[in-house]
Amino acid sequence: MRIAIDGPAGAGKSSVAREVARRLELKCLDTGAMYRAITLKALKEGIDITNSKLLGELARNCDMETEYDNKEGTLIYLDGENVTEKIRSPRVNKNVSIVAKSPELRRELVFLQRKLAEKSGGIVMEGRDIGTNVLINADYKFFLSASLEERAKRRWLEMKAKGLDVNYEDLLKEIAMRDRIDQEREESPLKIAPEAQIIDTTPYTLEEVIEKVLDAIRNDKIKEHGEEKIKIYHKESR
Ligand code: CDP
Repeated sequence: MRIAIDGPAGAGKSSVAREVARRLELKCLDTGAMYRAITLKALKEGIDITNSKLLGELARNCDMETEYDNKEGTLIYLDGENVTEKIRSPRVNKNVSIVAKSPELRRELVFLQRKLAEKSGGIVMEGRDIGTNVLINADYKFFLSASLEERAKRRWLEMKAKGLDVNYEDLLKEIAMRDRIDQEREESPLKIAPEAQIIDTTPYTLEEVIEKVLDAIRNDKIKEHGEEKIKIYHKESR
């Protein structure tokens, strides 16, 4: 089974994807982590992040490994180093959407993402272009959204919990800017796949959103296979 979850920053994709994957016993991949890892490397090497071709080469020549941990989510290694924490820095946040515009870079990463999906045996993949490009034939597609203010509030609380002192207004501006760049770029911009089920998560708790996603899958399975065969999907989620 392949499940695509797309949406803007702070809509809850990562937490939902991780938990849906755990309960359905699938693998999970946060594709944003891959764009972040390349951003980290480009900044470290002082590469011009508007040079699309150079970014593509950087991705082609680096050693990127991802690992799925059903508690931590996607762990990412770049040239042998675990950069899972480092890719969440404010500097990476600020620059990642500019880096992610590069068509050459996107081609490299999409190739890797499709390969990972192929060998996964079943995956929940989350990002911006999963349902519209990476896994165009995904069995299920979801688009998670929430108001800008709610998304900024969630991200602010998340960062505060990590001990990071960020200004809410600055965060809101940064997310709004990232939304705009992601939606306006030429190469596979952030948009809703025609078949995607849209969930506005603004009024819901994380658990409620997870249930909505699982319900959509269960209801579809019931239609397809009948009540008995889908018991597995109830196993852990109740
Ligand atoms: O976690 P958050 O929602 O802040 O962002 P992310 O999922 O880590 O993605 C970081 C950035 O990578 C996004 O703002 C996009 O610019 C880019 N991205 C992308 O272009 N395509 C993807 N499939 C995933 C991320």
